[in-house]
Amino acid sequence: MQDAHKRFVAKVPSNIAFIKYWGKKDSQQQLPANDSLSMTLSTATTTTTACPINGGTHEVYFRGQRLFESDAFAKKIYSHLKTLASELSVKQALRIETQNSYPDSCGIASSASGFGALTLAATAAWTNSADLNELESKGFYLSKLARLARLGSGSACRSLFGGFVHWQTSDSADFQKVEQCWPDSHWDLADIVVLVNTQKKAISSSQGHQSAWSSPLFRQRLAVIPERVRDIKKAIASRDLDSLGRIIETEATEMHAIMLSSRPASKYYGEATSQFLAWVRAQRYEGFLPAYFTIDAGPNVHLICEQERVEAVATKIAANFPEFELLIDRVGAGPSLAICNEQTF
Ligand code: PMV
Repeated sequence: MQDAHKRFVAKVPSNIAFIKYWGKKDSQQQLPANDSLSMTLSTATTTTTACPINGGTHEVYFRGQRLFESDAFAKKIYSHLKTLASELSVKQALRIETQNSYPDSCGIASSASGFGALTLAATAAWTNSADLNELESKGFYLSKLARLARLGSGSACRSLFGGFVHWQTSDSADFQKVEQCWPDSHWDLADIVVLVNTQKKAISSSQGHQSAWSSPLFRQRLAVIPERVRDIKKAIASRDLDSLGRIIETEATEMHAIMLSSRPASKYYGEATSQFLAWVRAQRYEGFLPAYFTIDAGPNVHLICEQERVEAVATKIAANFPEFELLIDRVGAGPSLAICNEQTF
């Protein structure tokens, strides 16, 4: 049994996918149908604390409130703790406390930062590791942590690395891999999250991943992904915002076309988002808005621009759409892990 007063604190950022992960080859092993590529964020983070406790059952708290295994929201968290315990061959129960730095259901992938932070904190607690170096010295490299995080939520595996991250698919779980292509220092890109609608999404991404294969567009998409990954890597390597922007807008609209043409169909955004996207395109065409959009499985929009343009872009949005709240983020360095010896409960 571990020292019951040690609290292992993991802080893991969310990420925004430029090339989207949508559809799985194998749901059991969380194998993606295609490669994806993302930018890790800086301020949108989940902080999760894991503390070994007596007794045989885990305790999970979200923003100070206890969540039980029977709660729909907590089911995946308890199930991931069981998966991790089995992967690490441990039995020790943990008390988990978790919170996000950003509002829930705001279009920032909370499952990416959430399952990343849960994986990191629980693994640190079970292996009694005070920081990332100690975890690595015990064989828990970021690539191994990413593999574990993927079992909770696919996109979480990309959040274990900072900067620009490529998740490569494979036909076998042993050969899929996640790697950082460039660190955050390579290109200081900003992400302005435009909150068009903050209601909880009606269709989970798990349901969407499942129905993707029924879309007549899906196989055509899979065929063009390798070339698109090559092109976006070139754009990032040369810090070419226009080329990057064209690719991310194609990606986002293509993913939503697949969602709409799947059976059952999923519609993640409505008129307000469509109007905002049309405005972004028109403004850019006129040379007034040096920013490009992407959208995940929800109605909120991520506008990607260079850091020195962020204020001008945000001011323009606020003047034209005062009803939308904005969250301003940028490319980030990746996760952190620390140990705290106090007992606060
Ligand atoms: O990790 P999941 O199962 O929540 O899927 C994420 C799907 C998207 O956010 C829409 C795309 C992506 O690559 O992050």
